[in-house]
Amino acid sequence: MSELIRFGISIEQSLLTKFDDLIQSRSYENRSEAIRDLIRKELVGEQWQQPNAAAVGTITIIYDHHVRELTEVLTSIQHDHETAIIASTHVHLDHHNCLEVIIVKGKTSDIRTLADQLISLKGVKHGQLSMTSSGDIG
Ligand code: NI
Repeated sequence: MSELIRFGISIEQSLLTKFDDLIQSRSYENRSEAIRDLIRKELVGEQWQQPNAAAVGTITIIYDHHVRELTEVLTSIQHDHETAIIASTHVHLDHHNCLEVIIVKGKTSDIRTLADQLISLKGVKHGQLSMTSSGDIG
């Protein structure tokens, strides 16, 4: 970790009160850590706007495995992106529904393309790309 710098922030009392309520509800011990996380979140978001930036993330999908050929299509798409996929986990939630978490690493544009292809399939009920960073944001 690099050297810590202290700096002052001017902020309206009402906004600060709301911020304090929010960070307390999220179990932050102090404002500094909450503000650092907000800054990192913005930096990760900015990184994901660059199509060639290196990033890591997870794609979570819920789908009905009874939908015709869906399982085969999901597998085929993942094989087409094998260099971006580090690992995946499959859980049989109930008689119909499967949960799959796919851990991805690579160029943001490739990861987005993969996520879009999986999430848009008929039978995929919900999907979410969770974007993070490989750790070079401080
Ligand atoms: Ni299953």
